[in-house]
Amino acid sequence: MTRKATITIDGKTIEVPILKGSCGPDVLDIRNFYQETGMFCYDPGFTSTASCTSSITYINGDKGVLLYRGYPIEDLVEKCDFLEVAYLLLYGELPDIAQKESFEQSINHHTMVHEQLRSFFQGFRRDAHPMAIMVGVVGALSAFYHDSLDIYDPQQREIASHRLIAKMPTIAAMAYNYARGCPLPYPKNQLTYSQNFLNMMFAIPSEPYQINPVIARAMDIIFILHADHEQNASTSTVRLAGSSQANPFACIASGIAALWGPAHGGANEAVLSMLKQIGSVKNIPEYIERAKSKNDSFRLSGFGHRVYKNYDPRARIIRKACHDVLDQLKLSDPLLEIALELESIALKDPYFIEKKLYPNVDFYSGIMFKALEIPTSMFTVIFSVARTVGWIAQWNEMMADPAQKIGRPRQLYVGEKNRTFFKST
Ligand code: CMC
Repeated sequence: MTRKATITIDGKTIEVPILKGSCGPDVLDIRNFYQETGMFCYDPGFTSTASCTSSITYINGDKGVLLYRGYPIEDLVEKCDFLEVAYLLLYGELPDIAQKESFEQSINHHTMVHEQLRSFFQGFRRDAHPMAIMVGVVGALSAFYHDSLDIYDPQQREIASHRLIAKMPTIAAMAYNYARGCPLPYPKNQLTYSQNFLNMMFAIPSEPYQINPVIARAMDIIFILHADHEQNASTSTVRLAGSSQANPFACIASGIAALWGPAHGGANEAVLSMLKQIGSVKNIPEYIERAKSKNDSFRLSGFGHRVYKNYDPRARIIRKACHDVLDQLKLSDPLLEIALELESIALKDPYFIEKKLYPNVDFYSGIMFKALEIPTSMFTVIFSVARTVGWIAQWNEMMADPAQKIGRPRQLYVGEKNRTFFKST
């Protein structure tokens, strides 16, 4: 029997069904709330609102747990490559050998972009931020696959999904090479997804480029960790854009735009700037005080999360991977020393303890990227390449959901009431 909550407003009592998921908090089903009470619910930032049902990703923020389709992120990082995880997110199950092979073939088949798309790059200033290029060029893909795409046909949705996953690394590497004045690269389909991306990023026609397996594995780990994260700002943006039946390539471009901000995917870039700004372990206490001060807008980048009120499991994995990569490449980075000390001081500070502010995935990913010689401006771009899998899995889930409706939040209007028209002459 469905449990129900009773709400009494101005003497009128209504019953609200309580929905139960497979895990996580129960959810009040307020779909008929306005109809029954004439009232809206106010929840800026959606801190208490479930916007959809989903069976893709689960986070337990108090315990620091992240599951993709029920599998702990730690196991997936250890035992899978990125395309296996992409398959899992898209189809709900890990692929068997034949499914893996056929999925890889399909992704490889779509890695090239239309030659005409290449001319879009020339329209950008050479110093354009690669995220700006990503928003524009990925959005432009919709011009190439619009009339041909029936979003209500699951097969056509599948082809669009494979195209997006396949073309994102190509476009990302093109954005980077455009900015550094190098020829725009072409994919090499005999390479793995991560190797292919590294090759397109760094190989230049005049010199041989050897892909370092340590770096390729580290890139795979980064892709897996960033692949999905349930209903975050960019994923919700993709779903909202998609709910109006917009072209999926345009929807993913809207997700890229939402990801760019420093409160979301742009935080990894901000962490590195912050660590450079701190400059030395001895300056850490000053920055901790600034982060705590109500009169200073400075925040510790890479700390805190809307959902995690415990250590972000992705941060734990990337922290270890970062040490491994630096060891294997025989590198040392003074910024890692600052980061470790900053984390240790912050985790003992009552302000951070009380507010449950722990390092998030972005805290160590910047240092990892730096070790892999990825330029700072590409950090969020790489996040967007990985997250495309999550965005597209969530978009597919939404399109197949019979309860799907156009997203249309309401508001608490606090503006002027009906005014008498007056115009000064
Ligand atoms: N440094 C100092 N104080 C902080 C921080 C921080 N990094 N994060 C939150 N707080 C304080 C904040 O001032 C507030 O204090 P009070 O209650 O006294 O007003 C309290 O903690 C709660 O913060 P909030 O901003 O209300 O929490 P939120 O859930 O709206 O924001 C957040 C989450 C991630 C935007 C925020 O923690 C933040 O700005 N962190 C830094 C940026 C960052 O690292 N973002 C990456 C997020 S993880 C990657 C991703 O998924 O995109």
